[in-house]
Amino acid sequence: MALVLGIESSCDETAVALVDTDRRIWAERIASQIEEHAPFGGVVPEIAARAHAERLAPMLEAVLQDAGVALTDCDAIAATAGPGLIGGVMVGLVSAKALAMASDTPLMAINHLEGHALSPRLADPGLEFPYLLLLVSGGHCQILRVNGVGDYRRLATTIDDALGEAFDKTAKILGLGYPGGPAVESLAKSGNPNAVPLPRPLKGSSDPHFSFAGLKSAVLRAKESGDFADADIAASFQQAAVECLTDRLVQAIGASDPVETLVVAGGVAANQTIRAALEHLADTHNMRFSAPPLKLCTDNAAMIAWAGCERLALGQNDPLDFAARPRWPLDPEAEPARGAGVKA
Ligand code: KG4
Ligand code: ZN
Repeated sequence: MALVLGIESSCDETAVALVDTDRRIWAERIASQIEEHAPFGGVVPEIAARAHAERLAPMLEAVLQDAGVALTDCDAIAATAGPGLIGGVMVGLVSAKALAMASDTPLMAINHLEGHALSPRLADPGLEFPYLLLLVSGGHCQILRVNGVGDYRRLATTIDDALGEAFDKTAKILGLGYPGGPAVESLAKSGNPNAVPLPRPLKGSSDPHFSFAGLKSAVLRAKESGDFADADIAASFQQAAVECLTDRLVQAIGASDPVETLVVAGGVAANQTIRAALEHLADTHNMRFSAPPLKLCTDNAAMIAWAGCERLALGQNDPLDFAARPRWPLDPEAEPARGAGVKA
């Protein structure tokens, strides 16, 4: 068994966790910056970086204390090295480098998306490679074939907005505040998912990708029309999102070499309606379904420590001059999606 310390600081959560290669989470702490960013309706990079810088060191100390271990008991120090808001990423990565030097243990510079992609294996010991992964978060909406640690083939991505972004914008339009995903999900429970006619962008298209910008604009028009209740708009938006996801996944299942398991990860994977729809989809395709528990879906450090465990088991580590990366695709060979904007 090897013990890995993980640090996450790429967006608005400062998080630290200690995880071992036997999948035991020894301790974890997370501090959200929701209150700092709420007045701005989204994450302000400079505020985020400063908050990470203030909180990380005391949190590292607290997590080691919670677990009753010393820094020198750790077999590797893992930190998110990108993609993300560069100020925050640098705070976490530079801290990890200092700890790795001080304890003479290897550094693991982790791709945040790899953290999400491997997180289901932390919770599900039976989950073997390869698997088909829907990675849905605030910055990404991708379908990947996960062949092994470090071997990801991207089958689809969004040509405009990520789904989490669309949830957040829908929340903003409905005056639900930030972050929007959980608020939209909760309001949708009392709404009629068929009440508001909303588009399902790219549904049925032979193109493999996602698009959510048109859906977001249609939500704005529905709200401005004054013809619909907010709960009905939320429920109809969520229903349209589910149909887009399942349609694109059916397309990917047909196009990819056969895989036994369908997996969902990332912040939007915390959504119960989406989880249920994907489980049903897996069932109808005779596939196993795996989704991490909710606390491993949204940003956390256990998934970063776990990615470190996976890489440590393969004898990998990174040099101390590893640079923080604002953009870092999981599949460097993937062609840009037609119509895609500048987002990573
Ligand atoms: O993975 P994550 O924590 O951060 C990124 O790496 O982006 O994902 C955050 C995103 C936000 O857009 C948030 O609104 C969305 O995940 N989210 C949800 C839910 N919980 C979080 N979206 C829909 N339903 C939820 N329950
Ligand atoms: Zn994330």
